[in-house]
Amino acid sequence: MRLKNVPGCRERIAESEFVVPEDKLKECKGHWSEVFGNDNDIHIEIGMGKGQFIYEMAARNPGINYIGVEKYSAVLLRAVQKMEEEPRDNLIFIRMDAEAIAEVFDEGEVGRIYLNFSDPWPKDRHAKRRLPSREYLARYDKILKQGGRIEFKTDNRVLFDWALEELPESAWKADLVTFDLHSQEELMADNVMTEYEEKFSGLGKPICKYILTRKRKELIMAQLVNTNDFEKEVLECTTPVLVDFYADWCGPCKMMSPVVDQLAEKLADQIKVVKCNVDDSGAVAEKYNVMSIPNFFIFKDGKAVSSKLGASSPADFEQWIKENI
Ligand SMILES: C[S@@+](CC[C@H](N)C(=O)[O-])C[C@H]1O[C@@H](n2cnc3c(N)ncnc32)[C@H](O)[C@@H]1O
Repeated sequence: MRLKNVPGCRERIAESEFVVPEDKLKECKGHWSEVFGNDNDIHIEIGMGKGQFIYEMAARNPGINYIGVEKYSAVLLRAVQKMEEEPRDNLIFIRMDAEAIAEVFDEGEVGRIYLNFSDPWPKDRHAKRRLPSREYLARYDKILKQGGRIEFKTDNRVLFDWALEELPESAWKADLVTFDLHSQEELMADNVMTEYEEKFSGLGKPICKYILTRKRKELIMAQLVNTNDFEKEVLECTTPVLVDFYADWCGPCKMMSPVVDQLAEKLADQIKVVKCNVDDSGAVAEKYNVMSIPNFFIFKDGKAVSSKLGASSPADFEQWIKENI
């Protein structure tokens, strides 16, 4: 949704008591409870548009604090005008590009993220800008608390199918997937319609929805690969991949294991991390000439671009990864 520029909208937004000043956003990180003056759970909608959904959610759930995130001032102004008519104590807005969301919310600070009718960005080269992309999911992973969830609704079936395909590469699993939300009475009981939802369902388009929760912690960490899936999981991966060639009997491999797991989580939005047991995957180990272990390889676009043999300090190891991705 991009409204024509409304003259003076930036100034009106800057003056509004309902919008957190842009220069104060980073200071709010870790302090959103203080902004609301209570410890209630915080739910955010990213790309809220004119705010119909989040405004109604705030009215229905006074025990939850809501934050609406919108990129464009002219759109956000509509939400602000609604608040000026009838303010809600548990709702506040921020104007920002959600790409920097992890700079504004602290680890575990958010209980739920709503993505409603996110822009599809149909060109492949813009896939990373799609709000349900694996890159964005990794950002959400940083700010959502344990047990937190992501809810995504759209009428765009192509985007929805693509978003589902992003999940195996992310830290999230789908607890609910429906391709026709409005036909399911039990799901509709507490459904709050967004502006776009009203528009597209009114035109007879089915509405898709998923609800994601985080996978168990150990599954976020380095995934196991073997000779059979090496091509798919490593060589065909569109993001850089770190492969840890190891064996269960190898002491230095065990020493490096927590380092690898921590980096898998820390760099989740930059690199995929997998482990390959050389005893189970002799063919792959042989192909890449892995004679001693642990031996780490970074793959980009199907090619090994760097390798590192043996144990090293976490700092050196992280630096080596960063230099090669
Ligand atoms: C198609 S509209 C949907 C509005 C509303 N959620 C609804 O369902 O009616 C998508 C909105 O997301 C906003 N948006 C898109 N990318 C964004 C980003 N990276 N950060 C913040 N807002 C974004 C757009 O400006 C637009 O207002």
